[in-house]
Amino acid sequence: MAITKVGVLGCGLMGSGIAQVCAQAGHQTVVLEVDQKLLDKGLASIDKFLRGGVERGKLTAAERERTLGNLKGTTRLEDLADRDLIIEAVVENRDAKIEIFRKLDTICPPQTIFASNTSSLCITELAAATRRPARFLGLHFFNPVPLMKLVEVARTILTEETAFEDALAFVGTLQKTAIRTSDKTGFIVNRLLVPYILDAVRALEEGVGSIRDIDEAMKLGCGYPMGPLTLLDLVGLDTTYHIANVFFDEFRERRFACPALLRRMVLAGFHGRKSGKGFYDYGGATPVPNDFLVGGAR
Ligand SMILES: NC(=O)c1ccc[n+]([C@@H]2O[C@H](COP(=O)([O-])OP(=O)(O)OC[C@H]3O[C@@H](n4cnc5c(N)ncnc54)[C@H](O)[C@@H]3O)[C@@H](O)[C@H]2O)c1
Repeated sequence: MAITKVGVLGCGLMGSGIAQVCAQAGHQTVVLEVDQKLLDKGLASIDKFLRGGVERGKLTAAERERTLGNLKGTTRLEDLADRDLIIEAVVENRDAKIEIFRKLDTICPPQTIFASNTSSLCITELAAATRRPARFLGLHFFNPVPLMKLVEVARTILTEETAFEDALAFVGTLQKTAIRTSDKTGFIVNRLLVPYILDAVRALEEGVGSIRDIDEAMKLGCGYPMGPLTLLDLVGLDTTYHIANVFFDEFRERRFACPALLRRMVLAGFHGRKSGKGFYDYGGATPVPNDFLVGGAR
């Protein structure tokens, strides 16, 4: 089945990027938000990204127009009734995801493929909450979606071959690389990445190095494009906190446990770049490390 009509649930950090790349690839895309204000905010971020692309010569004004022409925002679930593929990118909360999939299950025809962009939740559990577990899979995009080339396509033991192959082919239409994986917590990338960024917080707590030095060490010593604490600020501390809790529930290993400092920063509203402060403060022209977070290693 060729996928041409796409629905995206949530127009936040990930949903807006996913909706943008789908529309940019020529798919008729409808993106859903909970209310008009959040929808306008998400659509404005897409428009800003596309405008910036035109200014930098990355795309033409005509391509921008075409992309916006392929994109429609809505707050009504019913507007997703005729979609070939639904990609869910709402908050990382099991109950919220199950609730919206259950509702859509009664609205979309049985052939519509349901996909979740979850970073940590069990795809099998989401699939089993619907009447279409054979046409349910994981499509895990990376942040920022328009720039990151990888999509992990995750099948469960219930996913039928045709749905899996259709999803892999769809990712190809987005000019992205699909890798095949299965419904194991974290898939490939987060299974390896999450313990690494949590260990960076533990290293900071234990006084191994300062915020700046831990980031510089991994950039210059390993050739990574950014340090782990800068990456954590980008992903969002709240999102990472939820992910760590889900991983720890699954594996019961210390390397997946949320460090005390991370939990306290989330409770204090330090959610990273999106809240203006995390391991760094983003109030000025350049990010400044929040060295007061730990007692030693300044
Ligand atoms: N942030 C990342 O780097 C990243 C990377 C890969 C995957 N993910 C996954 O993507 C998903 C979304 O994460 P995010 O960072 O974009 O979160 P976000 O908080 O930026 O966006 C979530 C959006 O979903 C909307 N929403 C909530 N309930 C809704 C509903 N019932 N209907 C429509 N919209 C609804 C919210 O209003 C919000 O705008 C999560 O499952 C997360 O694990 C995140």
